[in-house]
Order: sequence, then C-alpha cells, then structure tokens
Amino acid sequence: MSREPSIPAMGGAVSGRGGSLPAVVEASRFRRIMGHYPTGVTVVTAVDRDGTPVGLTANSVTSVSLDPPLVLVCVSEKSSSLSAILANGAFAVNILGAGAAATAVRFAEEKRTDRFHDVPFTVREGGGPVLEGAVAWMTCGLYRTFEAGDHVILVGKVNDGEAAGGDPLVFFLGQYEALTVAAEPAGPRHSGPVQASSEDQ
Ligand SMILES: Cc1cc2nc3c(=O)[nH]c(=O)nc-3n(C[C@H](O)[C@H](O)[C@H](O)COP(=O)(O)O)c2cc1C
Repeated sequence: MSREPSIPAMGGAVSGRGGSLPAVVEASRFRRIMGHYPTGVTVVTAVDRDGTPVGLTANSVTSVSLDPPLVLVCVSEKSSSLSAILANGAFAVNILGAGAAATAVRFAEEKRTDRFHDVPFTVREGGGPVLEGAVAWMTCGLYRTFEAGDHVILVGKVNDGEAAGGDPLVFFLGQYEALTVAAEPAGPRHSGPVQASSEDQ
C-alpha cells in the first residue's frame, strides 16, 4: 500500500498536539455530537482484483481542493472494501438520492456479499461502479492516503463526474431523511457570493 506523506511539518504538528492532550471524549458522546452534523450519504465503490464490485455507505466524504480537484473519504481500517480500493488505486463516489435509503442500509450492512444484487451500475474506468439513479457521481484516482486513528483517509483526484440532480438523501441524528429541494430557479441556484437583495437592506 503506497502512502505518500503529507506536508510533514503540518501533519506532525497537528497530530502531535492532539496526541498530547490528557483526555479524549468518550466514543458515545463523540458519536452523539457528530450525529448533530447533517451529511449527505454516499456509496463509495471500487472493483477488486477479480473485477468484483465492492462498495460501502460513507458519509465522511468532503471536498478538499479545487485545483487540483480533490475529495476525501475516511474509511475504517476494518472495512472489507478498503483493500480493494487501495489495490484498485481508484474509487467512485455515488451521492445518493432521497429515495435511496434502502441502498444506504444495504451498503452499510456488515459482511453482506450481495450489495450489488439488483442494483444497476456501470463500472467507470479510473473509478468504480457508478450506481444508476445517483444524484451525482465522481470517479477518483487515489492521490494520497493518511492513517488517522482507526480510519484511513483516502484523498482522491477527481477525474470525471456528473450531477444528474434530484433531492439528496441526508443522514441526521442516526436517521435517513429526504431533503426536498424547491423547484430549480431558471438560472443557476448559486453562482457566487450571496448578495443581499435591496429588500434586505
Ligand atoms: C450513514 C452511514 C455512514 C457511514 N459512513 C462511513 C464512513 O464514512 N466510513 C466508513 O468506513 N464507514 C462508514 N459507515 C459504515 C460502513 O458503511 C459499514 O461499516 C459497512 O458495513 C462497511 O462495509 P465493508 O466492510 O464491506 O467495507 C457508514 C454507515 C452509515 C449507516
């Protein structure tokens, strides 16, 4: 597994400070705190050496950089998909739609081997399986990995992707919620800094 180092000074300083703190919050409280942070829901996929698709539900996806376009996902060391993603050197991120809670549940169920059964997908080169019906997807070449506690941070360089649109699936307080987005306005929804309208002033 190739793990290129981060900027050493920065990585060292940050992990050093955190590591020297005398106490850490207990796992249950940390979970409860993070549960108040609503996230989208994705299925991160790859293919293993035999070409068998692998994938897991993940909400730790975050954009990192625009130039180059980088995205990260934190994958548990215990994840059975991790070795395939690392060996594949590429992965795909599928952003799930509001109606895909069952897919999220299925791809989160441990040791389930039929996750892709009846789930139509296309394997995209330089990534992994792209699920039909995803609100948006991107394929990523593995750019860097970082060990972080019991997870591995996978940073991917985004090489392709599309946003089909649609209401997204949201995870909040341990529940799946459907976020209903108001009808698209004629122009772009948001094309720069939000300007206060004359009525607001
Ligand atoms: C909403 C939700 C988000 C999740 N996010 C992550 C995540 O970001 N990283 C991770 O490693 N596991 C995450 N999980 C847990 C995995 O989906 C789950 O452990 C899965 O069984 C792992 O599959 P694998 O071992 O086959 O890779 C999440 C689960 C749920 C329900």
